[in-house]
Amino acid sequence: MRPATPILGTLLLVGFACSAGKHAYGGDKVASKSDHPARDARLSPLPRTAPSPSDNPSTPEKIELGKRLFFDPRLSGKNTISCASCHMPERAFADGTTWNKGEAGIALARNTPTILNTGFYESYFWDGRANSLEEQALGPIRSEVEMNQDLDELEGELEAVPSYVDRFQAAFGSTPNRRDVARALAAFQRSLVTGPSPYDRYLAGDQTALSEQAKRGLELFQGRARCIECHNGPTLSDGKYYRLGISEDDVGRAQVTGKKEDRYRFRTPSLRNVELTGPYMHDGSLKTLDDVLSFYYRGSPYTSIEGLTPESPDLLGLRFSDLLDLEAFLKSLTGELPEVMAPDLPPLARPRTVAR
Ligand code: HEC
Ligand code: HEC
Repeated sequence: MRPATPILGTLLLVGFACSAGKHAYGGDKVASKSDHPARDARLSPLPRTAPSPSDNPSTPEKIELGKRLFFDPRLSGKNTISCASCHMPERAFADGTTWNKGEAGIALARNTPTILNTGFYESYFWDGRANSLEEQALGPIRSEVEMNQDLDELEGELEAVPSYVDRFQAAFGSTPNRRDVARALAAFQRSLVTGPSPYDRYLAGDQTALSEQAKRGLELFQGRARCIECHNGPTLSDGKYYRLGISEDDVGRAQVTGKKEDRYRFRTPSLRNVELTGPYMHDGSLKTLDDVLSFYYRGSPYTSIEGLTPESPDLLGLRFSDLLDLEAFLKSLTGELPEVMAPDLPPLARPRTVAR
């Protein structure tokens, strides 16, 4: 991070005057050194397994079927892309680009989030428009800009493959059908839980798990930098929606609720493995964690959009070294990734990439 002098100057002039919170969520609690952070109820380790709903309990057969479907380009209209084209195992199940392209070659309007640990979420997509992984799964398959697949056609294509017929039978006692495609994909995604990170080990009492710098970062995160007001709980997301002032092109949550106050609000993202999942924000506009911290530090570029005030915390009063401490803390949230190898898929019956 290269501190730009004008920003530092502004900080010195304005910093002291601005400590009065303009936002409702603030709290200036700073954990004292003797207080182990685990005493803060807002910090919690990631459980080792994600819960599955009673109408779709996870089984090894479902997870294996879901994994095959996840990697299978049959799920797209022209059999050219799979879920793994955008949620790439080698990129922590994100994709490392600002906007990926769907089957039609058209760039999507939002950044691809990781699907790691999504089994712990209560809503899905940047605007929270789906309430379960089962509900979410058929969205990208049907979406014209993503996989552009007709579901009747997909069912036919899966029925034509004997190994899929067997696997649906074993997992659900059914023939290939859209509902069980969604359930199998959900079960597979629920199995993608990352292992304990240095942060989790620290919460469990291992004082050596975090560097001194990351410990200072955690104190700031809990205290003066206010991050924890929104980034809390096992995934470090409260699941709520805020307007940070990242862009004015996408109304976000308001698309779902129709409410004016939800315009430009997006769901607080999980910070688990955040080091690996850039670019950041709903529009992928911030490339690195440095960029994200600089954004928070400078504050929203707008004082208001359509009369709505941004809800981002301002870090006025922090020093640049504090930002580096915060960054070290964010990097302590990386846990071991589940090992997922692309399966051998049944060969496509005929090349469908040419014409449709
Ligand atoms: C062309 C790229 C692309 C493909 C293919 C794709 N996704 Fe996504 N995925 C995205 C983007 C972009 C978003 C965010 C969209 C939004 O929030 O409006 C997303 C969001 C998600 C989410 C929600 C994550 C969260 O943080 O709430 C899940 C789960 C998911 N995708 C699973 C899948 C599955 C399963 C498939 C295959 C059936 C798939 N995706 C195919 C790009 C893709
Ligand atoms: C008022 C709630 C709130 C507070 C406080 C807050 N965040 Fe966020 N954070 C969000 C939301 C909402 C987004 C997504 C915004 C968007 O895409 O438009 C986000 C995005 C991020 C991202 C990008 C993650 C990704 O996958 O794209 C990081 C990293 C992050 N915040 C770290 C922090 C840190 C560090 C702090 C403290 C300095 C902090 N946040 C304070 C709500 C908050």
